[in-house]
Amino acid sequence: CGIVGYIGGRDAAPLLLEGLQRLEYRGYDSAGIAVHGSGTGRAAGLRTVKAKGRVRELEARLPERFAGTTGIAHTRWATHGAPSDENAHPHRDSGGRVAVVHNGIVDNAEELRARLTAEGVEFASETDTEVLAHLVGRSQAPTLEERIREALRHIEGTYGIAVLHADFPDRIVVARNGSPVVLGIGEHEMFVASDVAALVSHTRQVVTLDDGEMATVKAGDYRTCTTEGSRTSAVPTTVEWEAQSYDMGGHDTYMHKEISEQPDAVDRVLRGRIDDRFATVRLDGLNLDAREARGVRRVKILGCGSAYHAGLIGAQLIEELARVPADAEPASEFRYRNPVVDPDTLYIAVSQSGETYDTLAAVQELRRKGARVLGVVNVVGSAIARETDGGVYVHAGPEVCVVSTKCFTNTAVAFALLALHLGRIRDLSVADGRRIIAGLRRLPGQIAEILEREEEIAKLAAEYADARSMMFVGRVRGYPVAREASLKLKEVSYIHAEAYPASELKHGPLALIEPAVPTVAVLPEDELLEKNRATLEEVRARGGRILAVAHSEQEKADRTIVVPRNEVELDPILMGVPLQLLAYRTALALGRDIDKPRNLAKSVTVE
Ligand code: G6P
Repeated sequence: CGIVGYIGGRDAAPLLLEGLQRLEYRGYDSAGIAVHGSGTGRAAGLRTVKAKGRVRELEARLPERFAGTTGIAHTRWATHGAPSDENAHPHRDSGGRVAVVHNGIVDNAEELRARLTAEGVEFASETDTEVLAHLVGRSQAPTLEERIREALRHIEGTYGIAVLHADFPDRIVVARNGSPVVLGIGEHEMFVASDVAALVSHTRQVVTLDDGEMATVKAGDYRTCTTEGSRTSAVPTTVEWEAQSYDMGGHDTYMHKEISEQPDAVDRVLRGRIDDRFATVRLDGLNLDAREARGVRRVKILGCGSAYHAGLIGAQLIEELARVPADAEPASEFRYRNPVVDPDTLYIAVSQSGETYDTLAAVQELRRKGARVLGVVNVVGSAIARETDGGVYVHAGPEVCVVSTKCFTNTAVAFALLALHLGRIRDLSVADGRRIIAGLRRLPGQIAEILEREEEIAKLAAEYADARSMMFVGRVRGYPVAREASLKLKEVSYIHAEAYPASELKHGPLALIEPAVPTVAVLPEDELLEKNRATLEEVRARGGRILAVAHSEQEKADRTIVVPRNEVELDPILMGVPLQLLAYRTALALGRDIDKPRNLAKSVTVE
């Protein structure tokens, strides 16, 4: 979901709509807007308009006269209550004097709703958020801040909220607990948002609220305090990403733009970090000295979705280069199984957004148990970056498409850096350090070479777009790539796909092989290539079609995408790239909504 608010001298509605459009990637099943109307008659007072569907539906529904210089808006991704006009935010109290937009979940909403209903309150929606509007509306406290504080005392759960009140038209009040809120400082105007994407085109000076903090935002100033009411000092920072980096920049989709940006993105994650003298890398943000790094006996990597898959590549790199046992696990599984937390294990949370709730909750659980947790994160200053002891920023730049591409690749490269760093503190030789560094430096150019072959990959995509299902296989180094490629394909093209370790095929999935179920085989040229070729033979013998991703033409495959060779440890990173293009081109051929696949959201900030 996304929140945006404006207070200043300009008309709020167009600014809010623009902000919502920039947030649409966060969720887009319904949207709404509230302003303090500056007209007369029906155009005065607190006015709201809401619409099921995309932001453009909301725009179409706005009355011609919707003037007002203070407003809040929301784009929703349903959790409680189906997408509908009524369930869209902002929510009002019964008197219509309060408007609330909310990200997060009110866990005790049912109980509060029952209590309020018993007291005669009528609800207009099925959402958990509406209880907040009524609670604020009922309070008689003298200030809006106190009314909100009183309301929040009843709430269990997570929130990022922005509130308007007809009796306090000079301000927007926001509060945060578990769901991000930032203030954007302009000249005689202020913005609030759940994500800097909504405001960077107006200002890059921002204040990020901490959990348990709230803020009063007026046109000319702002004040922050805890949700208990004691003043806090909020220091503005400058957003690193430029407004243009959120634009489509001549591409038809963000997915294509972000795939194409990978040579530059990889260049950025390497920049300033390579130390040729000692054949290692410098990762100053780790906060882990050499002695501590040597004390690490095991590495456990946690993340969700593509971040988890990048973690699988990371675990392999760490084992190979640093010879430290490492594995990756979905963050949600980890946190729910009461994990044994071991003091000699280094925990690493991986997240593009730095906000994914399951990953954040795993970090919090680990910290509570005294573990050392690092973050491999894209968004600077995000919750996971703030709650970890140190880490590596992946510097992919903003990723807008729901489906992760450049951030996946950059995260894998960040892991290669971390693995090299840990390896050179342990037993990785200078010669191997140099070899890996040279390989890392070749990556951007080689990715660019792969991207030049898009038209060839488009032909393959057209050939395979009729598949009923697709099987992705790989062995050891190829397997995490197969998993990510399978996820990419199903997310964006809606073709069912499964990933299997190559040897596991014969233990069941071979039963599915037929011409309508092609196999994509990821075949790095390592010591396992011969074994992998034998797997292709098995598939062929069952009448399966095979598309190989390899470093040379594979005669056992029907088609091969040839990828340049790097170092054997780094080849998997390259092999992911053509398969992103394959997913993209397949989705394009099938006419899918590429940047906003059905049922998915960019950041999942709920359980
Ligand atoms: C969602 C997105 C995925 C992403 C995952 C983890 O499910 O649709 O593309 O990989 O969240 O997000 P994170 O921001 O933690 O990397």
